[in-house]
Amino acid sequence: MKKLAKVLSLVMALVLCLALFSACGAEKDGGKEKLIMGTNAAFPPYEYYDGDKIVGIDAEIAALLAEKLGMELEITDMDFNGIISAVQNGVVDIGLAGMTVTPKRLESVNFSDPYAKGIQVVIVKEGSDIKAIKDLEGKLIGVQEATTGDIYSTDEFGEGNIKRYQNGAAAISALQGDIVDAVIIDNEPAKAFVKENKGLKILEAHYADEDYAIAVAKDNTELLEKINKALDELKADGSIDKIVNKYIPS
Ligand code: ARG
Repeated sequence: MKKLAKVLSLVMALVLCLALFSACGAEKDGGKEKLIMGTNAAFPPYEYYDGDKIVGIDAEIAALLAEKLGMELEITDMDFNGIISAVQNGVVDIGLAGMTVTPKRLESVNFSDPYAKGIQVVIVKEGSDIKAIKDLEGKLIGVQEATTGDIYSTDEFGEGNIKRYQNGAAAISALQGDIVDAVIIDNEPAKAFVKENKGLKILEAHYADEDYAIAVAKDNTELLEKINKALDELKADGSIDKIVNKYIPS
């Protein structure tokens, strides 16, 4: 009997140890500080859905950043139009969405060092009479709301010539359906959309050249510094190039 009690208490001690051990393990994992990324996952190849998973250049860069920072990445999909204020209000820690650095946005948030280049291009239907930027005069241009494509073309061609859509794909459908005459959007998503949709082409002329960077709240300079340091390392060791080449084979 005594022996049985001894064995039992040993077993119980073992169970307790195991429980503690796994609890500790769990805490170590779940206890990691979160890095919440706000994005708009309708922007291939930077962010888009593969099944129910958000993938793309930005998602992979964010994963490496989080790893370097010892944080756990969480991606939140939202309207592009809401990302800056989500960063400002601390709803997300970073805005990573193929986002262009603009003077206006810099009034609301800080940006990291740039990690990629973007170009605004014009998509038209094959056979369109729009052959150069100047031909856009008086035409109806489709854009994704609140993007630089929207901001610049509204400035240049006037409110009445712009039709805003919630995402690039919707603007492309409108072009297919002859609701708009052209779409102005970033070059890599443009290539992805043109590849998926027959009868469209990209004009050779560049509408605007820009830098993509990561938006961080003005008061979160600590995170900004950490991100810039990590970005530097990821650029230097070729990680960023590797990710870009994976999605944009040259
Ligand atoms: N580069 C453009 C901008 O910053 C478009 C970005 C759109 N990004 C997206 N994930 N939908 O305005």
